[in-house]
Amino acid sequence: MGSAPADLIPPRPTIAGLREVAAACRACELWRRGTRTVFGEGPAPAAVMLLGEQPGDREDRVGRPFVGPAGKLLDRLLDASGIDRRTAYLTNVVKHFNWEPRGKRRIHRRPTKVHVAACRPWLEAELVVVRPTIVVCLGATAAAALLGRPVRLAEERGKVFAGPIEPPVLLTAHPSSILRIDDDRARREAFDALVRDLRVAARRIAAGHV
Ligand code: URA
Repeated sequence: MGSAPADLIPPRPTIAGLREVAAACRACELWRRGTRTVFGEGPAPAAVMLLGEQPGDREDRVGRPFVGPAGKLLDRLLDASGIDRRTAYLTNVVKHFNWEPRGKRRIHRRPTKVHVAACRPWLEAELVVVRPTIVVCLGATAAAALLGRPVRLAEERGKVFAGPIEPPVLLTAHPSSILRIDDDRARREAFDALVRDLRVAARRIAAGHV
């Protein structure tokens, strides 16, 4: 199928170098669907890596993670929890936008296990370069990808787990789950719950688990 991460990842990678070569990734068919590879961004090393599922419509157009509606909400969540976005490395499990047409709109489709597995070498390379103290998994796809097992977010969110690969992993909900809530009060509660989870990471960073 053409260029796969194993052929593209240089022996001593940097984030800029990885981003450049990942633009040519053809490890799964999503490169045909998305406009471009949306690689992670932020400082490296960084104390915290925030891991989402995949770029959305806006991210696909702009070429940067978390710049659409979920990203704007993430900014507010980070502010409220005392994590400075500029100090965090933001990325996604899958680096192409998976979507299906609905009228003129491009509707998000969850990535499959094949997509997650194809993209995994990029995430592993990012972990090596960024060396985060903690990875915050935003949503079930990120959590399952890092822990290597299905997760029950309702029960496991707000907790820190040792994954098969370093570093420790904190699970929480995806910001887009808040955007889907119609009821004002329920939305506020979901926002507060996510802030509570993020504060677990903020405390670890502040305590110098760095
Ligand atoms: N949702 C994600 O999981 N990642 C993004 O970059 C944007 C929306």
